[in-house]
Amino acid sequence: MSEIVENPPHPEPDDEAIPGPLERRAFIKVAAAALGACYAGAIGYPVYRYLASPIEQAASVGAVNEVTLPDALNLPKNAALLFKFGSAPAMLIHHEDDTWTALSAVCTHLGCTPQYEPAEKRIFCPCHGGVYDPRTGGNISGPPPKPLTLYLVEITDGKLVVRRS
Ligand code: FES
Repeated sequence: MSEIVENPPHPEPDDEAIPGPLERRAFIKVAAAALGACYAGAIGYPVYRYLASPIEQAASVGAVNEVTLPDALNLPKNAALLFKFGSAPAMLIHHEDDTWTALSAVCTHLGCTPQYEPAEKRIFCPCHGGVYDPRTGGNISGPPPKPLTLYLVEITDGKLVVRRS
């Protein structure tokens, strides 16, 4: 004799345990937003650093508005002197026509220190080949996106003073 066993009744689905379609959509939206924010940060931060780095370095000079360079007047013509303007490197160039130029020596590309090249009469950044005009600081070629910051040069009472313009 066989006994018929009925299947036990299926339990009623617990409405609170299984997320509905609206909750899943909300979760997916939050997850996608979080992923998007991480992606934007991963891409955006290096771009921000690339663009802001020279500006931040220039801003760090902020408290200093002038520097006196006592020995600068001995600099030969067609030569340059590197000095600190606050905490940032700067460059003084004595041109062959006896004029002077002072500029920031922080490359506007990624912040390397460019050098004056007397033979070429140019400012050259060895990091990626950026070239600047030694009289105006203008970015001539290579990757630098902006000119070098130009400072004022004044010679009074036998002293050379570099000032923020
Ligand atoms: S840091 Fe000067 S050219 Fe790149």
